[in-house]
Amino acid sequence: MQGNFHHADASTFTATDKSQVYETAVSSAVALFESQRFWATNLANAASLMWHAFDALGMHVNWAGFYVVQPRVGKQTLMLGPFMGKVACQTINFGRGVCGTAAEAGTTVVVPDVEKFPGHIACDGSTKSEVVVPILDDAGVVRGVLDVDCLVVDGFDEADVQFLESLAGLIGRSCEWNL
Ligand code: SME
Repeated sequence: MQGNFHHADASTFTATDKSQVYETAVSSAVALFESQRFWATNLANAASLMWHAFDALGMHVNWAGFYVVQPRVGKQTLMLGPFMGKVACQTINFGRGVCGTAAEAGTTVVVPDVEKFPGHIACDGSTKSEVVVPILDDAGVVRGVLDVDCLVVDGFDEADVQFLESLAGLIGRSCEWNL
C-alpha cells in the first residue's frame, strides 16, 4: 500500500481464473485490514472486493454486503451494514430469514433456490439464490453476517462458499466491533 498504489486498484481483477481472483481478493483484504480495525470501514471495502471479484468472474451477483449486530439496538437484531447493490431490508431479527438463521446457528447457510427456503426474506424479488456466512469475533461471538445474493438458481459453488468463509473469518479477526 505504498508508492503509486491507489486503493481503487484493489477492486480491479485482471485474472479470470476463480482461484486467482479469490486469492487476490483475500490478499487485498489482508493488506487493507492490517492498518484499519474500524468495522464499518473494513466491511465497506470487503463489500467492494466481493462485488468486483464476482463481476470479474461474470457471476450474476445482485447484492453483496453485511448485516451487523448493534448491541445498542439489541443483541438479537441484525442491522443493515455496508453493501454493494440495491437498497435492502434495514433490520432482521435472529432466527428470521436466511441471515437470521445463519446468525442464530453461527454457521453458513447456502440456499440454492430461495423459493425453497421457508421464511426467506425477499429484499429483492429477482434474487434466486443466496449464501450467508456468520462473522464471529475472537471470542466466538456473532458480530454480523456476510450475505451474497445471485440472480440465478444454484448460483454458488463450493469454491465461492470457501472464499466467502475465508473473508468472513478474516473480517471477524480483523475488526474492532465496539468502535
Ligand atoms: N434474503 C435475506 C435478506 C437480506 S437481503 O438478501 C439483502 C434473508 O432472507 O435473510
